[in-house]
Amino acid sequence: MSASVVKLSAEGVGKSFVGTGGRVIQAVRDVSFAVHENEFCVLLGPSGCGKSTVLRMIAGLEDPTTGVLRLDGHEILRPDRERGMVFQSYTSFDWLTVGQNVEYGMKLNRVPVAERRERAAHFIDLVKLTRFRDAYPKQLSGGMKQRVAIARTLANSPSLLLMDEPFGALDAETRWNMQELMVSIMDSTQTTVVMVTHDIEEALFLGDRIVFISRHPGTVLEDMTTDFKGGTRVRRKEDMLTVPGYAEMERHIMRLMREQGAEHEDEG
Ligand SMILES: Nc1ncnc2c1ncn2[C@@H]1O[C@H](COP(=O)(O)OP(=O)(O)OP(=O)(O)O)[C@@H](O)[C@H]1O
Ligand SMILES: [Mg+2]
Repeated sequence: MSASVVKLSAEGVGKSFVGTGGRVIQAVRDVSFAVHENEFCVLLGPSGCGKSTVLRMIAGLEDPTTGVLRLDGHEILRPDRERGMVFQSYTSFDWLTVGQNVEYGMKLNRVPVAERRERAAHFIDLVKLTRFRDAYPKQLSGGMKQRVAIARTLANSPSLLLMDEPFGALDAETRWNMQELMVSIMDSTQTTVVMVTHDIEEALFLGDRIVFISRHPGTVLEDMTTDFKGGTRVRRKEDMLTVPGYAEMERHIMRLMREQGAEHEDEG
């Protein structure tokens, strides 16, 4: 699973924004971590610590103020279809069917019709929406819409999948199904994932690596691997609860979150 080849690295990355009235806001400072090929890396930390900022820089949507981000050894300078992004809110096109949404990126990239149809069918099947291929997004539930967004992004064969709280708007049961679906997607694709979440249980279930970002201005407080899983991925959420080492790690991260959390926000 976590091969030793480094896919993505952040080296001393900082980002400052110029806020209202010219005040400089340092969102993140000196962020360094590495993600290996086919690894599922979770960025976890309190609200406002800079998780989305780090993800947007990896996507190439923002430039770092200091430091460097590399993908396969090359500096990230701009967005690229090699990096696919799934956002928290549903981002499918309302006027296109599920099938057309999934084919959209491939169409832009001039993938021949037969090939894109076949690839779309594959990814629609992977997210279990085959029966809804001809439906429009407004006919789907929130979880189904998010599955369309995931299929659409995967269909462009990104070598790095970026997700910013992709399940944040879903109810608990759907969220849980989506998390289990992500585990099966990791098994059947060779993708590497960086996902942002505030949800500790989600981080422990999905993450091979958890990079905990401190409160504002964010920096890496702890870079952990979920060793309690013994180098495999747990497929059913309830099975994780009894794995030795799970509860200790959850308790440790809850402590970090409490320490770094909202009551300290005004110090930043
Ligand atoms: N475009 C911007 N201009 C000015 N400040 C910004 C901009 N984007 C982010 N920030 C600031 O950078 C800091 C980090 O924001 P970011 O959205 O990355 O946090 P986050 O960890 O994703 O938070 P949340 O968990 O609430 O989504 C915040 O103080 C935010 O106000
Ligand atoms: Mg965010």
